[in-house]
Amino acid sequence: MIKVITYGTFDLFHEGHYRLLKRAKALGDYLIVGVTTESYDKTRGKLGVVDSIITRIENVKKTGFADEVIIEEAAGQKFNDIKKYHIDIFTVGSDWTGCFDYLKDCCKVVYLERTRNISSTMLREQRQQIMRIGIIGNGRIANRFVPEVKLVSGVSVQGAYNPRVHSAERFAEKWEINAYEDIERFYDAIDVVYIASPHSSHYDYIKGALEHGKHVLCEKPLVLQKRQAEEAFANAKKLGLVLFEGIKTAYCPGFQKLLGIACSGVIGTIRNVEACFTKLEREDSRELTDTLYGGSFIELGSYVMLPILKLMGAGYESISFDSINGENGLDLFTRVTLRYQNGLATATCGLGVKSEGRLLIAGTKGYILVEAPWWKTTYFEVHYEDVNRVDKYSEVFLGDGLRYEISEFLFRINHGGKEDFKLTRGESITLAGIMEQFLETRQE
Ligand code: CTP
Repeated sequence: MIKVITYGTFDLFHEGHYRLLKRAKALGDYLIVGVTTESYDKTRGKLGVVDSIITRIENVKKTGFADEVIIEEAAGQKFNDIKKYHIDIFTVGSDWTGCFDYLKDCCKVVYLERTRNISSTMLREQRQQIMRIGIIGNGRIANRFVPEVKLVSGVSVQGAYNPRVHSAERFAEKWEINAYEDIERFYDAIDVVYIASPHSSHYDYIKGALEHGKHVLCEKPLVLQKRQAEEAFANAKKLGLVLFEGIKTAYCPGFQKLLGIACSGVIGTIRNVEACFTKLEREDSRELTDTLYGGSFIELGSYVMLPILKLMGAGYESISFDSINGENGLDLFTRVTLRYQNGLATATCGLGVKSEGRLLIAGTKGYILVEAPWWKTTYFEVHYEDVNRVDKYSEVFLGDGLRYEISEFLFRINHGGKEDFKLTRGESITLAGIMEQFLETRQE
């Protein structure tokens, strides 16, 4: 009996898939089809898969060509499956030509001609209206944002607005998009807004964008006053729009996994969280010269407060700030201490002092250690009283990580703004309140 194996996502099952499976089956007597899991697809950069794995398996089975369906959940699995199932022929479409030649030592490799003019990507794009993003602010982060948008389906960058039009023009030329000087024309041309302007301008831009009926993805810190955050979220809700704070850590798969493990009980009850993030900046950088809204905590505080709010909650009994300030009064280094009824937390950040950037979560049965850059979580360890026992976890973090945030933003829009568990409105409001309290201490 000749055994054949093939693999795919088989999202939005189409003619190309059907023809591939038919020809794969005809290559032998017994066909095994490997269908990818959602998490494996995410690790290989396919972020927009529509059908659940159950639907995708059902669709493969319905063709009647598959004698057996298996799940493909990790890179490197193909090699082992070929040995395990005693495979004679491995086959995939010609879009993969050459990619699997390494399997030729174990079995025959056949690339079947791909059916023209059809793909899941095409179907996904036809299904969803492409969201046109307009960017406000054209600094460093906006330059990192544009290439990441290209990796998320269902969205494209339409143009950039900047009151300093030359800056918008330079940015637009670099990324081959449109530059807008007139904000009304800008809003007319787009569906959603990404705000990456200086912190102090976020509130007004959020207000304006919502009033123009646009969903908003805004860089952290969203706003610097609790009242402003409450008002902005209430407005968004009233207008049926999504207001979304861009703290990329909150949306990356490794951080999700970390929260899941931390809250699973393996380290017992969480009693202490310590998060530190430092990034040395030049003395003449915007971050260290904007005397109103610069400094370490405004810049990095959202990152270090995130795991604390996620794991210990917003119900702290007290919060205090301690800073080392530069000559212009901006904090070069800040430590925030929070006391909870049954726990403690410390958030440390610095732009002018370098320290070990780690996240430590201590519980009654063990602790979790995530080394820098924990804010782009890829690896963490769980330690116990028995020093010989260490559980290790890893997860991918692709590119600059903004793609996770962008795809979550689109997901939120497509689900009517619900499902904000990765970073809730309440958490964003608490963060704005903490920023406000910090700025009050600076004025004292
Ligand atoms: N396939 C094919 N002809 C097409 C599309 C896909 O022969 N027009 C084949 C692929 O080469 C692969 C299998 O079908 O062997 C499953 O492919 P999959 O990646 O699930 O489908 P795509 O339509 O290529 O999906 P996407 O657009 O998400 O990459």
